[in-house]
Amino acid sequence: MDHLPDELTRVDQAYEISLRPSRFDDYCGQRKVTERLELMVAAARGRGEVLDHVLLSGPPGLGKTTLAYILGEQMEVNVRTTSGPAIDKAADLAGLLTGLERGDILFIDEIHRLPRSVEEYLYSAMEDYVIDIMIDQGPNARSVRLNLPRFTLVGATTRLGLLTAPFRSRFGMANRLDYYNHTDLAHIVTRSADLLKISIDQEGALEIASRSRGTPRIANNLLRWVRDYAQIKADSHISRDVADPALAMLDIDQHGLDEMDKRILECILHKFGGGPVGLSNLAVSVGEEQGTLEEVHEPYLIQEGYLRRSPQGRIATPLCYQRFGLKPPETEAS
Ligand SMILES: Nc1ncnc2c1ncn2[C@@H]1O[C@H](COP(=O)(O)OP(=O)(O)O)[C@@H](O)[C@H]1O
Ligand SMILES: [Mg+2]
Repeated sequence: MDHLPDELTRVDQAYEISLRPSRFDDYCGQRKVTERLELMVAAARGRGEVLDHVLLSGPPGLGKTTLAYILGEQMEVNVRTTSGPAIDKAADLAGLLTGLERGDILFIDEIHRLPRSVEEYLYSAMEDYVIDIMIDQGPNARSVRLNLPRFTLVGATTRLGLLTAPFRSRFGMANRLDYYNHTDLAHIVTRSADLLKISIDQEGALEIASRSRGTPRIANNLLRWVRDYAQIKADSHISRDVADPALAMLDIDQHGLDEMDKRILECILHKFGGGPVGLSNLAVSVGEEQGTLEEVHEPYLIQEGYLRRSPQGRIATPLCYQRFGLKPPETEAS
């Protein structure tokens, strides 16, 4: 685990790793993606071949890193982890690639942040399993071609739109992860509770699930908080009646929207009269990057029916007005 996101502390990392499923069977939800990957693994193994390159995309916390490790486990190969921003020169990448054994997985997290020069350098490695490296300097400088073992590149990104078409096309399979429904998330909460020996009932798990923004990482983090709350206030058992006040104490509302979600919606409602408002205006108003709004925050708000994208910009839906105790305008432009 060389490069986890900065915001995760060591304790968080240990907690997260302890809950990480290592087999497809323990990975809840995302059936479309896991069925494809399982088939790909079975086929590659059946032929004794190396797994094709795989791209995983989707908002943070949905299970991309977990899938990369499951692939390693199922293929019985090593997984070497790095991240886009950690590789700033082609030489760094050459070092990683030449250290791989046949079949190994090179997992590059935040792959959209690879410098363009490194990305282009990766092409020949992905396609032909060769790289050219420069040796010596000055008049003696020359390029030498190195053969690499066959390997699998697994790339993860929250920002699929930032990958160039030539790069994307070099992956054998691209998979997009979606937000989880409440049932799948409740399974994940129950599974985590089992692993941590926390007593929880179905309704307690569903309560946490429905307030987790469709995201396993958030669900697991909320479980940790509710466990503490239950220990102090409720004989260590988590039911709905325990989970609800515990989450209210964190200012997590019934709908599980986070601070930025609320800020975005309130901004559209109050500053822009419900919209339509263009992405760039909205981004400046809430103080967030356009791309992050578009690929991290908006998908959830759209899925939950609070927000609509139109050619003129973002529009608050009647549900959004209701959610903030406002009356929707009579005629909603459609
Ligand atoms: N489908 C799943 N089933 C069970 N746990 C999951 C699932 N997806 C993610 N998790 C858990 O959520 C946490 C975050 O997952 P991770 O793979 O790190 O997300 P990402 O890399 O997409 O940000 C991990 O602790 C992982 O165990
Ligand atoms: Mg990750």
